Amino acid sequence: MKRPLEFSHDFLREVLDSQSVALDATMGNGNDTVFLAKSAKKVYAFDIQEQAVTRTRERLEELGMTNVQLILDGHENLDQYIYEPIKAAIFNLGYLPSADKTIITKPHTTLLAIEKVIERLERGGRLAIMIYYGHEGGQMEKDDVLDYVSQLDQKNYTVMIYQALNQVNTPPFLVMVEKITSN
Ligand SMILES: C[S@@+](CC[C@H](N)C(=O)[O-])C[C@H]1O[C@@H](n2cnc3c(N)ncnc32)[C@H](O)[C@@H]1O
Repeated sequence: MKRPLEFSHDFLREVLDSQSVALDATMGNGNDTVFLAKSAKKVYAFDIQEQAVTRTRERLEELGMTNVQLILDGHENLDQYIYEPIKAAIFNLGYLPSADKTIITKPHTTLLAIEKVIERLERGGRLAIMIYYGHEGGQMEKDDVLDYVSQLDQKNYTVMIYQALNQVNTPPFLVMVEKITSN
């Protein structure tokens, strides 16, 4: 069976094409940025850590990819950078394993950013949220995100979850949102 992260890429790949605008809201080491850049016309990638931007820039240069705008800023400010409808977006919540584990996504800014993405999704557009919640504050962020997406109007959005039910500890899981109307 596929792991949630693998499944998140499949979910987004299905709607991406050479005309698509995509967003990586949590750049980190650039894994999702590179994935999106392979299929989209343009990718916006955010992180608040300079290390993430540097690492991702190096990877993109090695691959010769030029369709990504790397932004050293919080994803909650995405409306200051993105003026186009978004076809596919991904969040990987929590901290970057190879970096300072105290720099984590926070419930308030995560929700602000998710709201802004949802407003900007084009019809048929998709949002994938990988929820890691084993760290301090993670449980609250998980609950806030689940509360928010559960209340999206079913006339306009389909919301699904992909989660292991028999694993110990707090395995990450995937929340998927698809915009099904154009309003
Ligand atoms: C789990 S990691 C992301 C992993 C990444 N997707 C990858 O492929 O390596 C979470 C990242 O979110 C970043 N982050 C935390 N708060 C943020 C914010 N407000 N806006 C953008 N990025 C943020 C952290 O710096 C960290 O790099």
